[in-house]
Amino acid sequence: MQNIFLIDHPVVQTKLTELRDYSANHRQFRELLDEIAMLMTYEVTRDWPVSPRPIRTPLEPMIGKQLARQVTLVPILRAGLGMADGVMRILPDARMGHLGVRRNEETLEPIAYYQKLPPDIADTEVLLIDPMLATGGSGSAAISFLKKAGVKSMKFVCLVAAPEGIEALHKDHPEVPIYTAAIDRQLNEKGYILPGLGDAGDRIFGT
Ligand code: PRP
Ligand code: URA
Repeated sequence: MQNIFLIDHPVVQTKLTELRDYSANHRQFRELLDEIAMLMTYEVTRDWPVSPRPIRTPLEPMIGKQLARQVTLVPILRAGLGMADGVMRILPDARMGHLGVRRNEETLEPIAYYQKLPPDIADTEVLLIDPMLATGGSGSAAISFLKKAGVKSMKFVCLVAAPEGIEALHKDHPEVPIYTAAIDRQLNEKGYILPGLGDAGDRIFGT
């Protein structure tokens, strides 16, 4: 499969297993999701361009490096919010946009209910974050919205992806790379990922 990056770092996998376990309460779930998002960001940003930055060390001038472009983080509400703080700890200067998308529980079709993006998002590096890629409907709708806003460079970052969702996203948006900590077996008849972790939003927020 192309344009999919599996982050199978042993520390990430250990934390993901703890988080999936049904005995993790919402406090533990939130803490683990936050830590995994932070660790994943290190890998996700590995190929970003840098530009020269002249500085002066205590001993002499030198040309250092810095990220070449501004960064915008876009969580898909609600569950994407659970990853935002962890990503922000690695990228503290990032701006944040919000996209509200939820699935119709019967049809599984995405319903967009809120959008607020920084005005100059088009020229930034965008990380679209959502822990779950199930049918791919929500992710695909969010990517289409970002493209309409002029975004040229974006990555989709999730925790658990189903093969069905990866295929759907690749079909609709083949140029958008997907980063995930796990590729699970399949969806069940209600559109939940198996083995998955349950309903991410409910587990984060205790609803
Ligand atoms: C979950 C999840 C994704 C979506 C994935 O959100 O956070 O956004 O489902 O499913 P899909 O790939 O089939 O679209 P949900 O619709 O449950 O909303 P919530 O985050 O508000 O709970
Ligand atoms: N959304 C979730 O929160 N979990 C799933 O398994 C599928 C979609």
